Amino acid sequence: MNLIAKLLPAIALTAGLSAAQAEGDALHGKQLYAVRCAICHSLDYNGVGPTHKNLIGRRAGSVQGYAYSPALKNSDVVWGEANLKQWLSEPEKFIPGQKMFIAIPDARDRADIVAYLLQAGAQQPSKTP
Ligand code: HEC
Repeated sequence: MNLIAKLLPAIALTAGLSAAQAEGDALHGKQLYAVRCAICHSLDYNGVGPTHKNLIGRRAGSVQGYAYSPALKNSDVVWGEANLKQWLSEPEKFIPGQKMFIAIPDARDRADIVAYLLQAGAQQPSKTP
């Protein structure tokens, strides 16, 4: 009895942790983004890669003023959690002919980066002047 009462909080904590991990750790994702993505991408402007502003729910290849590969521009992908993970695991396999030549082979890291993007790349309501 007494032992179970002592163990319960620990069990609950462990369950809570693994649930959080399954969804990805956005804070770790933010750190990874800074190191692995920010060389080419920004949340504010187009660089070597297109901006990630309003990425979530955005049609692939649709940012104005960015010169996409025809492959990405003509794909019918709309960015969300599942296809971002697919993209990051191997862009060329997901959309052959694209021109982003990096991948994130580690599933854990991918989940963390996507968890960050789900927040940072969420659609912003357009500002009314
Ligand atoms: C070496 C430069 C480079 C790095 C580093 C890089 N990307 Fe890219 N990314 C690109 C380029 C170039 C494109 C455009 C690809 C095309 O047009 O085929 C792109 C496109 C994308 C797109 C599609 C956006 C859209 O508007 O359709 C997403 C999403 C993306 N990158 C995510 C990431 C993430 C997340 C990381 C970090 C893990 C990352 N990229 C790292 C160069 C890079």
